[in-house]
Amino acid sequence: MKKFSGKKISTAVFISGRGTNLQSLINFSQKEKSPIKIELVFSNDKNASGLKRAKIKKINTYYQISKKNNILENELIKRLNRRKIKLICLAGFMKILSKNFIKRFKGKIINIHPSLLPEYKGLDTHRRVLENKEIYTGCTVHHVNSKLDSGKIILQKKIKVLKNDNVKSLAKRVLLEEHKIYPKAIIKMYS
Ligand code: GAR
Repeated sequence: MKKFSGKKISTAVFISGRGTNLQSLINFSQKEKSPIKIELVFSNDKNASGLKRAKIKKINTYYQISKKNNILENELIKRLNRRKIKLICLAGFMKILSKNFIKRFKGKIINIHPSLLPEYKGLDTHRRVLENKEIYTGCTVHHVNSKLDSGKIILQKKIKVLKNDNVKSLAKRVLLEEHKIYPKAIIKMYS
């Protein structure tokens, strides 16, 4: 990955829902030491509340109508090219991108996942962690390749599962760590 040379990297964030990770990236991008500038927020759902977070900060948004439909990637690629996007951060983005899309942006797509990958790929991680009585869980920022949640790991944060944790309490504690490691992972990539 290219080193940060002072000119901020044109970045897009892809979301599907509430966008708390998007918010942490927006806050981070506004700091002087941040190597990124968020130029576009894309949602595969018109009703994703995270879109409002971008609008408040006057960041360009683009959505496609329904989270159930396939993404119209050609249209999306046009918009990413128009803004010369060099980094795509998936932040709670619940669609699988095509091999073609991933190839087109090779090495430029990263994701945050709420588990200690390679453990607990896919959905419903916290429930499965609790069912398996794991002692630790956490979150991971990783590069995206064509296999689900399998690209090279950039940064992880491990936390303890507490005795009386339920899915909600665990998700909440992991999320707080997600908000911290996503910016840290980006700094790591460009330093
Ligand atoms: C986050 O916990 C993120 O790690 C997870 O969705 C949540 C989105 O929250 N992503 C995945 O599970 C991707 N496989 P947010 O919309 O508040 O950032």
